[in-house]
Amino acid sequence: MINGRGRKAMGGIELTSQKLLDWLNKAISRELQVTVQYMWQHVQWAGVEHYAVSDEFKSIGIQEMKHAEKIAERLWYLGGVPTTKPATITVGGELWAMIDNDIKAEVEAIEMYKTIIKVAEGEGDTTTAFIFREILVEEEEHHDFFISAKEGKKPLVKKK
Ligand SMILES: [Fe+2]
Ligand SMILES: [Fe+2]
Repeated sequence: MINGRGRKAMGGIELTSQKLLDWLNKAISRELQVTVQYMWQHVQWAGVEHYAVSDEFKSIGIQEMKHAEKIAERLWYLGGVPTTKPATITVGGELWAMIDNDIKAEVEAIEMYKTIIKVAEGEGDTTTAFIFREILVEEEEHHDFFISAKEGKKPLVKKK
């Protein structure tokens, strides 16, 4: 769906392809997904190991919500209408299942945002590419946190 604002803002010239608008909405869907996914993982903590990372789930969840807002603002400016539908939310039961779900979600984000940067640059939309570069830095930080947390699961010394 096109709202027409972007074309007005750009002096009547349509600069953004439907393909790029669709990518931004896919990005919003996954930001909404992980906002809820991480926040509910924060809420449903159980046990000492989970308690240790519970606050980080919350802080990353808030960052994801801000990403959703930033992408939605950009989409609206470009003439699209932000989706309200999250991608499939997979909270997980025990902590390590949660963290596996989160690693998967962050890998998906990193791959998707690299694609969006390429598509945006291909259309000469340096601002959208810049916004996604900034978000990508944070997604890699999230990925780093989740894979580092998972390292705690491995025994430090191999049992013979
Ligand atoms: Fe994000
Ligand atoms: Fe993330």
